[in-house]
Amino acid sequence: MKKTNALYEGKAKILWETDEPGRMVQEFKDDATAFNGVKHEVISGKGVLNNQISSHFFALLEEAGVRTHFVEKISDSEMVVERLSMLALEVVVRNIAAGSLVKRLGVEQGTTFDPPIVEFYLKDDDLNDPILSEEHVRALGLATDEQVAYLKQAALTVNRVLTEFLSERNTRLVDFKLEFGTTADGEMVLGDEISPDTCRFHDAASGKIMDKDRFRQDLGGFIDAYKEVLERVSS
Ligand code: TMP
Ligand code: ASP
Repeated sequence: MKKTNALYEGKAKILWETDEPGRMVQEFKDDATAFNGVKHEVISGKGVLNNQISSHFFALLEEAGVRTHFVEKISDSEMVVERLSMLALEVVVRNIAAGSLVKRLGVEQGTTFDPPIVEFYLKDDDLNDPILSEEHVRALGLATDEQVAYLKQAALTVNRVLTEFLSERNTRLVDFKLEFGTTADGEMVLGDEISPDTCRFHDAASGKIMDKDRFRQDLGGFIDAYKEVLERVSS
């Protein structure tokens, strides 16, 4: 397989077209951004770690029967993925109160949500990815009722699989963000990445932060935390 041209470059990844129809190469970059790109640094080694961690999670989810775009990891920083037409939505699942939810609603950090909360956000940097109700999703034509129902159910399945897997590895899944797209024949598939850039992971015993919050909050020890996540995920 040969990469041809870069179809899309985001803050943390590049999506390459290839000479194989329906197949893309997703390359993970070392760039770390937060607060909609306001804070930006290049952190050597991040791309390689996120590619490995994401590959593990996608393989785990496929085994559990979740359709994902993941085909195979082909190099340190690249994976082959199915070509999808992405929904302009971010689907966030929250098990424990953190981040923007704490700021927006004044809920005490660390509050447990059982059942977990599923939220939708508009993927639009110019608007700062605003939160959406299901009615907004429908009214803006971002997804049909049937797709909304699928997204919620798929997000909760992902949550169940990852929460169980991580808890066996002394890691708490606080919250995470997913992105979905459709194949040429209209099937809804999980895309993007699943990594410490897009999830919050806390050590179950100490509560130690092991994700991009180390960068957002200038806590230091960023790469070591990502390495620790990879070790746990591959054990
Ligand atoms: P939030 O608390 O900032 O809304 O984030 C919720 C989860 O979504 C958290 O695990 C980080 C992830 N996330 C992304 O992957 N990309 C984003 O742009 C944002 C804002 C959050
Ligand atoms: N990914 C977003 C950014 O690049 C926000 C975040 O993850 O905190 O700014």
